[in-house]
Amino acid sequence: MVDFMGTSGDDNCTGDGPLRHIYVHIPFCARICPYCAFYKERADPAQTGRFCKAILAELAQHERQLPLRPTTIFFGGGTPTALTSLQIAALLEGFHATLDLSELAEWTFEANPGSVSDRKARLLREQGVSRISLGVQSFDDALLELLGREHSAAQAEDSFTLLRRCGFENLNIDLMFGLPGQTLAQWQQTLRRAIALEPEHISTYCLTYEEDTEFFLRHARGEFHTDSEEEAAFFEMTGECLTNAGFLQYEISNFARPGFESVHNRAYWRGEDYLGLGPSAVSTLGLRRWQNVCDYRAYAERILAGSGASLGDEILTPEMKRAEAIALGLRTRLGVPVAWVEDWPNEVAEFVNLGLLQCEERRVVLTRSGRLLADSVAEAFV
Ligand SMILES: C[S@@+](CC[C@H](N)C(=O)[O-])C[C@H]1O[C@@H](n2cnc3c(N)ncnc32)[C@H](O)[C@@H]1O
Ligand code: SF4
Repeated sequence: MVDFMGTSGDDNCTGDGPLRHIYVHIPFCARICPYCAFYKERADPAQTGRFCKAILAELAQHERQLPLRPTTIFFGGGTPTALTSLQIAALLEGFHATLDLSELAEWTFEANPGSVSDRKARLLREQGVSRISLGVQSFDDALLELLGREHSAAQAEDSFTLLRRCGFENLNIDLMFGLPGQTLAQWQQTLRRAIALEPEHISTYCLTYEEDTEFFLRHARGEFHTDSEEEAAFFEMTGECLTNAGFLQYEISNFARPGFESVHNRAYWRGEDYLGLGPSAVSTLGLRRWQNVCDYRAYAERILAGSGASLGDEILTPEMKRAEAIALGLRTRLGVPVAWVEDWPNEVAEFVNLGLLQCEERRVVLTRSGRLLADSVAEAFV
């Protein structure tokens, strides 16, 4: 079998070299959106300072045990900008003091238009954050209200302009489509308003009705409906609109101007190792994988008492690693090397016949129709 410990080729860490990618989970939000299943809680000002101390303590714990020389850092959530300026400053200064950042190529911070301020934006820029991912979701005020967002479309535009003015040259906008009652015309209008802001990157996610969310219950009660043909039309329109505007679809949900593909996300899709800090964060090191406890109070307690926050190790088999690498790789524009799927010649031939896969220069790539069925295609290679 092909060795899947180093699927990325060049920069992967399998336990020997330094770890190159760090994710930090900040689980706070000013308001909880009814569709969201990420681990998050309403920010409690009495707890967030202690939580930031725990993040830095966890970073220091790992730094003593693992060589860390990140090329990418990603602060996600939740909403990292829900922290105060002082807390953000303390966190970023702590990262500078603990880590060798001489090879850092990309430092991303997720932001919500409701909590972006001039002061925070300047601080992030001064501390070396190079990329902001702004959660806009829609430029339609009625849909924003349905989504329970804390901002209007105009506020989202203002936040974007503010970030640009503060010197950010690499900005992403997150959008969602397939929303209850959303028409194709509304979606096109949202895409146009996003393009008009001239971001370097746009992520477009089809709304998923995630278990344990209010939207899931409303869908189960029949208040919201899903229709695969409608979803396909949204996908088509997204690809067409953004490609015509000069964006490259380098992953099913991700579009970038040439040279602005997310280095951090590309590392995930290539199966590279990464260290996750904070509650619920996942880490992968070779065939070892672990997840931190999904409760920020328990997380801070454990870390500040000097113990780890991991729920325990999972050891992946090479077959599991291969299935994941194929599923993630197929979602990207480059697909996967033919050698990775050589154990399934019949399935590959069938997908090619059905027009879902094509072979390009010793690589297997999803076609346009294949992208709509990416998960089902990937399931055949398990
Ligand atoms: C972890 S969230 C962080 C963004 C930030 N908290 C915000 O909402 O502004 C990352 C992105 O995931 C997407 N997302 C969250 N829940 C989703 C769902 N149920 N279906 C599809 N996309 C979702 C949204 O586009 C969101 O911006
Ligand atoms: S979508 Fe963003 S702001 Fe809304 S609850 Fe999820 S993480 Fe928080």
